[in-house]
Amino acid sequence: MKAHIAILPGDGIGPEVTDAARRVLEQVATVAGHDFDFETSAVGGEAIDRFDTPLPEATVKSCTRADAILLGAVGGPRWSDPSAPERRRPEAGLLELRRTFGFFANLRPVKVLPALRDATPLRPDRIDGVDLLIVRELTGGLYFGPRREEGEDPRQPKAAWDTMFYREEEVERVARIAFEAARGRRHKVASIDKANVLASMRLWRRVVDRVAADFPDVEHQHVLVDAAAMHLITRPADFDVVLAGNLFGDILSDEASVLAGSLGLLPSASLSATGKGLYEPVHGSAPDIAGQGAANPVGAILSAAMLLRHSLGLEQEAAAVETAVEEALGTARTRDLAAVTNGDDRIRIVDTEAMTEEILSQPSLGRRTTAGVGAV
Ligand code: IPM
Ligand code: MN
Repeated sequence: MKAHIAILPGDGIGPEVTDAARRVLEQVATVAGHDFDFETSAVGGEAIDRFDTPLPEATVKSCTRADAILLGAVGGPRWSDPSAPERRRPEAGLLELRRTFGFFANLRPVKVLPALRDATPLRPDRIDGVDLLIVRELTGGLYFGPRREEGEDPRQPKAAWDTMFYREEEVERVARIAFEAARGRRHKVASIDKANVLASMRLWRRVVDRVAADFPDVEHQHVLVDAAAMHLITRPADFDVVLAGNLFGDILSDEASVLAGSLGLLPSASLSATGKGLYEPVHGSAPDIAGQGAANPVGAILSAAMLLRHSLGLEQEAAAVETAVEEALGTARTRDLAAVTNGDDRIRIVDTEAMTEEILSQPSLGRRTTAGVGAV
């Protein structure tokens, strides 16, 4: 198949990890006989420096042409002045990208790989069997509700407010994605809210109940966000699909990443109604390790696997990439995971480049005489 992929490396370790993910996509294309072409453009702080805006028009055009978008990360101390106007903040570029293309459903899978069982700061027996999927609403709620700053000096307002605003339709469409996803998994949805206090969250709960009625085969429960934060640590393996609004999903997904051992391992997909998607590792720009070859490319490479699955419909190829990552982690790891190798000298501590090589050289990504990768 032919696919056009937009690459937005962004800031910090973004360029290093998108480069790794691109190499994986190129190899998948070669091996399985697909024709992928790539177009790179600027986003975030890098775009502010070069074009004076975190989301240049040329980037939007490139994303419009693309079948899918692969993004590294945005942000860094250089651009983190909290009183800077919106157009000087890298994060504004990412939010605008989500809004422009209607990427309303953010999927963040968190799985504990047996090889990395010791990588969590929690007791290993607590995390056995953890395999959850956070479905975060991404274009509404507190991030996009009405906002105001009051006062003479716009850089130092005397009062400011944000609004947690949801319409029924916004909750309904993301809830449907969560319930559909549960059907392909363990048939459970935990919907997170704060319905005991917030009106928007009472609406959330009511709409989720309505959607749930269309999925009698999926068990669902409502969990208050404060309790959910606790349960994610005390009994994480009980969760299957976790459905949450924009802010709560943001917070809980960082919390859940701890279960997997390193933020550097986690991928995400942000999907629109059309099938176009934005794929990015959950880790940020990690400016402290940028340019050192220390970044873990796994989050970005697994994001590329999600791209193959969700935007291109290439399930076999996606699974082949995931298998290669799991296998490679048995023999090589980047520095963020060094502490958990427990002196096992079969595991090499490697840089970004060598980790990528390790993944590319796995049999599941190797050449086949039959068509298709993963068709072992
Ligand atoms: C995320 C990030 C973003 C968010 C920032 C960078 C705007 O934390 O994708 O989780 O808050 O959504
Ligand atoms: Mn976040």
